[in-house]
Amino acid sequence: MRAWAVDRYGVVDDLRLHEIPAPVVRPGGVLVRVRAAAVNPADWKVVTGKQGGRFLHAAKFPLVPGYDFSGVVEAVGEGATLRAGDEVYGFLPYRRSNAQGSFAEYVAVPADTVAVKPAGTSHEEAACAATSASTALQGLRDKGGLAAGQRVLVNGASGGVGSYVVQVARNAGAEVWGTCSAAKMDAVAKLGATRVIDRKATPLASLDAKFDIVYDAASMSSYGECARLLTPAGAYVTLLPNLGLGVGMLRTAFSARRCGFVIVASRADDLTQIAGWMAEGRLTHLVDSTFPFDRVPDAVRRMQSGAVQGKIAVTVA
Ligand SMILES: NC(=O)c1ccc[n+]([C@@H]2O[C@H](COP(=O)([O-])OP(=O)(O)OC[C@H]3O[C@@H](n4cnc5c(N)ncnc54)[C@H](OP(=O)(O)O)[C@@H]3O)[C@@H](O)[C@H]2O)c1
Repeated sequence: MRAWAVDRYGVVDDLRLHEIPAPVVRPGGVLVRVRAAAVNPADWKVVTGKQGGRFLHAAKFPLVPGYDFSGVVEAVGEGATLRAGDEVYGFLPYRRSNAQGSFAEYVAVPADTVAVKPAGTSHEEAACAATSASTALQGLRDKGGLAAGQRVLVNGASGGVGSYVVQVARNAGAEVWGTCSAAKMDAVAKLGATRVIDRKATPLASLDAKFDIVYDAASMSSYGECARLLTPAGAYVTLLPNLGLGVGMLRTAFSARRCGFVIVASRADDLTQIAGWMAEGRLTHLVDSTFPFDRVPDAVRRMQSGAVQGKIAVTVA
């Protein structure tokens, strides 16, 4: 199969189209013909081996980056409940044991890590939602204790994860405030945020409000900076481990407050819940751009530029 890969850790420009064997379907698994992939910051981190990238993928070269996929089941392993021809979406595990990438024509995954894609959602949109909406849901529910009537602050609301955090919180009946750069405020308001804050004009330190959940999707703050924004039983959720996270966990160990770090996992039940929202039109996709398969390096470079609004999709087949 054709797959984009690097032969060593380096720069995004090193990505080359390789011909490599397709992965083999295992018992309980499915072989998926990838129709679309989506780009995450993890992709350039994995290619460069920097910013934790070496912990997210096996150091097995040629190394194929890419996590999110949506496509069609082509072969089914013994005991798997899906059928050939089913349209499914999901993401590969962000682990050192993962030696596959979705910037490729096929992935082979356990059937209980994917969900059926809604008919009215394109493969590109489903791929965009896979990691980011799962991260939003798992962070809000499992680390934040999301409930109706809460007030949620999303830092980085215009990003891949943040754009879904806004919508998942809104779907649960929360009041959502979001921060982003000035040029992206309209897009965040359209996702359902009650208040959108220009992060440069009003930094977190100058906000005068209390929140049940502060979800730092940009992961640029610390618990210490956000503690004054939390209600007495409020939760701070972040996506990148750092010293501030450790301090926050210690500070909340004996308090009603929580400080949580998400490690997103591909779970069929969460992806099915997300698919349900997509089918009902309650989860839309802030798609920045869509690239053809032969321009995967451009797509990853755009992600690395930091200019992205929402998600970048890749049409594979
Ligand atoms: N732990 C996990 O399981 C997990 C899962 C998914 C992602 N992640 C990580 O979480 C981070 C976010 O992922 P993503 O896909 O949402 O990335 P993304 O699409 O690049 O979004 C990040 C957003 O942060 C905002 N931002 C940039 N600089 C900022 C600053 N100084 N202060 C506040 N906001 C700033 C940007 O929006 P504006 O330009 O509008 O400000 C941008 O849209 C990445 O580091 C990613 O690797 C972790």
